Amino acid sequence: MKNSVLLWLLLLSAKAVAQTIPFSLHFDPTKYQSQTLNIGEQTVTVRAYENLVYVGNPVDTAYQKMNIYIPEAYFNGKSINGYTAQNAPIFFPNKVGGYMPAKPATTQDKPMGMRSPSPTPVQPTALLVALSKGYIVASAGARGRVLKDNKGIFSGKAPAGIVDLKAAIRFLKFNDANMPGDANKIISNGTSAGGAMSTLLGATGNNPDYEPYLQAIGAAKAKDDIFAVSAYCPITNLDHADMAYEWQFYGINTYKGWSFGGGNVPSKNLSDAQINVSAQLKVLFPAYLNALKLKDKQGNLLSLDDTGNGNFKTLVASYIMASAQKELDKNTDLSAFTFLTIRNNTVESIDFDAYLKHLGRQKTPPAFDALDGSSPENSLFGTATTDMQHFTTFGKDNTLVEAQTANQAIIRMMNPMNYVGQKNTATAKHWRIRHGSKDKDTSLSISVMLATLLDNKGYDVNLAFPWERPHSGDYDIDELFQWIDTLCKK
Ligand code: DHB
Repeated sequence: MKNSVLLWLLLLSAKAVAQTIPFSLHFDPTKYQSQTLNIGEQTVTVRAYENLVYVGNPVDTAYQKMNIYIPEAYFNGKSINGYTAQNAPIFFPNKVGGYMPAKPATTQDKPMGMRSPSPTPVQPTALLVALSKGYIVASAGARGRVLKDNKGIFSGKAPAGIVDLKAAIRFLKFNDANMPGDANKIISNGTSAGGAMSTLLGATGNNPDYEPYLQAIGAAKAKDDIFAVSAYCPITNLDHADMAYEWQFYGINTYKGWSFGGGNVPSKNLSDAQINVSAQLKVLFPAYLNALKLKDKQGNLLSLDDTGNGNFKTLVASYIMASAQKELDKNTDLSAFTFLTIRNNTVESIDFDAYLKHLGRQKTPPAFDALDGSSPENSLFGTATTDMQHFTTFGKDNTLVEAQTANQAIIRMMNPMNYVGQKNTATAKHWRIRHGSKDKDTSLSISVMLATLLDNKGYDVNLAFPWERPHSGDYDIDELFQWIDTLCKK
């Protein structure tokens, strides 16, 4: 054989091998860079394992990669905050926002990105605080709704994002013996769409629905259930979020508008057609809520009548009262909030409708499955070749554009309500959900329904609506880690 032919054959076979050898799923503890971090008053040295592709057959290595940070102390037999190399919990924050593609978090990130309008600039990120408290941090990137491959095919539509985060959890469990930290103590954290991802990770552990997707990307052969969920303002239960929004905001006919990045748009009026849509959606909510058969702490069935009133509404209002009470207990003057009745430093009652006027509407109806297909969620539910689809019957029936409806199995996979405590599912035992009392990105009822379902199925839930907080996350990091420490040190 001529030399040139031989070379050509060699090159060809090398290329074939390169294409078939999958990325290694084995964590190599020797491949790190040392970083010294100033966190508040502390100086912490960590081993940084960055940009680890966490699946065998990645679709997009710019996103399907993870950063792992491990305190140096754990390689020297030391302990931090009572944790050791054997039992340190793993904090798993994601940076998903707007159901967009997300890079993994790094030690260099600025505190809270786009969703927090007024972050305290000196505050370290949750990732850094976690390291200072002896947690191991693993943060995975994930594909998102606008991502395309090099052929122009969408590669991050639902359920890609949650599948990626589950694959990253599998990587951590697969490598548990070879890595400091306890992969049975993974605590997920996220805000908004990232909060929704966090709730999905917690609700759906090991459920077989996701298996074909995980296999396709070559996820490690391991489980993907997690220990605890922290979720800030989860934008979830998308297929019922439109009716929930109108149950809450019907009759409020002006809206503030919104844009990613927090820019404030002047108030506008709903059109007659939009008010009509609001009325149609509002009346759909009681049937959905009643079918959930949720119960309050006393075991009473929670329900709503045809007008949208009932003890479920009272329960939602009671969370806002509790929030106000907590603020009052800090000696904050709440006299400007005239919808509260306060006597002897006690919040006695709330005029819930007046509170909702104070909160104000942000989105036009339908808030999520937009009839013109323009919402982030329409885009989330697109396909490889279609940018957007509907995902509710109402959206499909009333569409203003040529659009299909997403596959029911995929809609199902994006809603944690379908998985809590189900067969073949290891739902996280511990949950902390926060939704600001001034957050109008989704209905307050979304978090109340999820928390009540979890509670009814025997999971440990801590839900609160921090006073006057707008749509944002990671604003109470000390409390968050106190909560996790209490769980992990039991
Ligand atoms: C986010 C906010 C929204 O209002 C929404 O519909 C989807 C995502 C976000 O901030 O991630």
